[in-house]
Amino acid sequence: RMPILEQCYNLMDFEAVARKVMKKTAWAYYSSGADDEITLRENHNAFHKIWFRPRILQDVEHIDTSATMLGTKVDMPYYVTATALGKLGHPEGEVVLTRGAKKHNVIQMIPTLASCSFDEIIDAAEGDQVQWLQLYVNKNRDITKRIVEHAEKRGCKGLFITVDAPQLGRREKDMRSKFDDVGSNVQSSSGSEVDRSQGAARAISSFIDPALSWKDIPWFLSITKMPILLKGVQCVEDVIRAVEAGVHGVVLSNHGGRQLDFARSGIEVLAEVMPVLRERGWQDRIEIYIDGGVRRATDIIKALCLGAKGVGIGRPFLYAMSAYGLPGVDRAMQLLKDEMEMNMRLIGCSKISELNPTLIDTRGLGMH
Ligand code: FNR
Repeated sequence: RMPILEQCYNLMDFEAVARKVMKKTAWAYYSSGADDEITLRENHNAFHKIWFRPRILQDVEHIDTSATMLGTKVDMPYYVTATALGKLGHPEGEVVLTRGAKKHNVIQMIPTLASCSFDEIIDAAEGDQVQWLQLYVNKNRDITKRIVEHAEKRGCKGLFITVDAPQLGRREKDMRSKFDDVGSNVQSSSGSEVDRSQGAARAISSFIDPALSWKDIPWFLSITKMPILLKGVQCVEDVIRAVEAGVHGVVLSNHGGRQLDFARSGIEVLAEVMPVLRERGWQDRIEIYIDGGVRRATDIIKALCLGAKGVGIGRPFLYAMSAYGLPGVDRAMQLLKDEMEMNMRLIGCSKISELNPTLIDTRGLGMH
């Protein structure tokens, strides 16, 4: 029997329910990681290497979890990251996440490979709700230019170019499950018949340009006024290059463990990146985000203590949506908010701006 929503007490609980109730193909696509799924597991486990150094007697009666990301004030320092094929999990797809994000005043990143059309997801937003666009760069740059210009015209406030997927990773669970229903929008965006034997992910991704390079960045900066961020940066050298290229930010990410197995976790890369940026006095020249394995507010707090502006969360909201629809997404977001308030209080911080490196012990990361 399916547990009732009120029996989900944390983000992991939604995963357990989703695994039971989702269609096999959908579960395989959402949950899979690349190869042996070592990075997939490491993403969350890496947070266990960081411990807190709380401060006492700080007057934590009132806690304010609000933050600013790319100039937008949000109620919590996370965003709903881009995940393809929302209709595999829920008949209404990505717009369910749009509504959840609205209710909790957080930002949604719209995936290039959404199952709803881009305009449907934009139209589902209300009032001054902010959305970003995740971009897979097409071999045909005219198509890419049209997508970017259209996103800017429709009010998107950030362009996240995915740079960790010149070829889609090999997700064997997904390949074995031979997907059958991904939605017509996705098939038309790839422009050709899909090869189902490769699993959902590979079948829809053949249009992505593996020749994309640093040389293309000036062109992106020239075609839009939206802030441009690189999603999938994995070492400090590339963060420095990103600053030099003039982009506005990076997401330290390994694509949820779905691309290169044995890529390091975002939180580990963040610990490598921030001291170098501070040494150069560059910490304010670029906004740093991480994603991958964020399941608890303590994970968010650790990332912010290290210096991230915010974190992306992917699968937990997909699982909450697949199992319970909008009420599930709503509860998942509320649980995170409750955890955030409690843990900030216990650490001795009443505002996000008070989170700093002295509140964590990172010796477990072995970087001293
Ligand atoms: C993704 N991710 C992703 N990223 C991207 O840039 N474009 C995409 O189309 C997708 N699609 C996608 C589908 C699914 C099912 C998942 C789980 C992930 C990666 C995503 O943006 C993010 O990096 C990870 O999901 C973060 O890890 P967690 O929160 O899922 O552990």
